[in-house]
Amino acid sequence: MRKLNIAIVGLGNIGSYLFNYLKENKKILTEKNNCLPVVKYVSAKNKSKKRSLRINKNQWLKNYLEATKLNDVDLIIELIGGAEGPAKKLVFNALRNKKHVVTANKALIARYGDELSKIAEKNKVNLEFEASVCGGVPIIRLLKEGLIANKISKIYGIFNGTSNYILSSMDKENKSFNEVLFNAKKLGYAESNPSADLNGDDVSSKLKILSSLCFNSLLNDKIYVEGIKRIEKTDIDNANKLGFKIKLLGYAEKLNNKIYQRVHPTLIKKDSYVAGIDGVLNAVIVDGKPIGQSTIQGEGAGPAATTSALISDISSILRGNIKFPFSLSSMKRKKLKFENINERFFSAYFRFEVLDKPGVLSSITNVFSKNKTSIKRLIQNPNKNKKISSVIIITHDSKDKYLNKILKEISKKNYLKRKPKLIRIDD
Ligand SMILES: NC(=O)c1ccc[n+]([C@@H]2O[C@H](COP(=O)([O-])OP(=O)(O)OC[C@H]3O[C@@H](n4cnc5c(N)ncnc54)[C@H](OP(=O)(O)O)[C@@H]3O)[C@@H](O)[C@H]2O)c1
Repeated sequence: MRKLNIAIVGLGNIGSYLFNYLKENKKILTEKNNCLPVVKYVSAKNKSKKRSLRINKNQWLKNYLEATKLNDVDLIIELIGGAEGPAKKLVFNALRNKKHVVTANKALIARYGDELSKIAEKNKVNLEFEASVCGGVPIIRLLKEGLIANKISKIYGIFNGTSNYILSSMDKENKSFNEVLFNAKKLGYAESNPSADLNGDDVSSKLKILSSLCFNSLLNDKIYVEGIKRIEKTDIDNANKLGFKIKLLGYAEKLNNKIYQRVHPTLIKKDSYVAGIDGVLNAVIVDGKPIGQSTIQGEGAGPAATTSALISDISSILRGNIKFPFSLSSMKRKKLKFENINERFFSAYFRFEVLDKPGVLSSITNVFSKNKTSIKRLIQNPNKNKKISSVIIITHDSKDKYLNKILKEISKKNYLKRKPKLIRIDD
């Protein structure tokens, strides 16, 4: 029986679940892959930390980098996290020393994936990162294998469970952003510092990886990113009244031979598939030829879902086929030009909190017409007591640069009581 010696580096949330899973499922994994997975070594930052794991003394590495040098290690599983520091050092050294690598680290792959895949290819070892995007949703393997026949024109969806939980709870539980965020932390759905989830950076890293796989291109940093921090309960209620839901979506799309990458809150029709994805779930939709549209959804994070993705990567290595990390050779991956979204057309939702006095409405509509944007719907909700009015405008399609100019110009008006809001609409 062939065997594969494994070192797990990082025994936190994910590493400890994986360690136990491999122990409990060794037999079935061996039978399915015709190769025995042996967890030969482990490493963590603090060796004397109390862990609910049964680790033999001789399994502990003296130093995490030792894994990259030992002859009896074939595969290193990096579960430390972070684009820099020990995770980066470990993965670069492992590949240089001809060890296979499996990682769940989206930040590392989004930043150094191109360099790392070149080393893996040169040294004929695998670099697998299924768990780095959408946890248990096997979108990377789907793109690399199941959908290999297809020319992808668009990939989009909900790639961050924390922000989806916050938006759907604000909608269902009639609670503010801060109340829901507090609950999300209590339930373990948000980290104590959830800024990467809330400012769109987490989705941005995942989208970069997916987009590169879809368009056979090198990783590209040109990406519009906006998170959910400025979404208020009022916007969610307004969206509902207008027949929409608000979701944080990531998109990579090819339109008229131009590629756009964008992450932003989006108003989507209430009866659409994506509008129905609530809580911590992730969903990915792929448009390709000849298949048409394919959809996959599931748990986007957590030790169980992430271990499912890691085992899929480990199994691929156990079966013994060396593959290009980004589906095709680094030599063949293209340096495509990605566009910024200024020239792309969107319809949009605007909300202005303004003084309720004559002339304000005509001033607002003038700014719209000056910026080549026609209004589809205008709703005014006056609050007589406070002498203010909420003006909600839905536009027809207009270039993004004009939508932003409108926002900027109206921001300067002295009748404006609060920072205005712009949310793009996806029809
Ligand atoms: N959590 C999720 O739901 C999820 C989902 C998908 C992907 N991921 C990714 O999975 C990776 C791990 O996440 P996690 O949630 O398991 O993180 P975590 O709980 O913070 O665990 C990190 C582990 O790395 C160890 N470590 C830190 N510095 C080290 C060093 N210099 N040498 C050796 N070990 C070191 C820590 O050791 P100590 O135990 O001694 O502190 C700890 O065991 C990250 O890349 C993350 O983005 C996580």
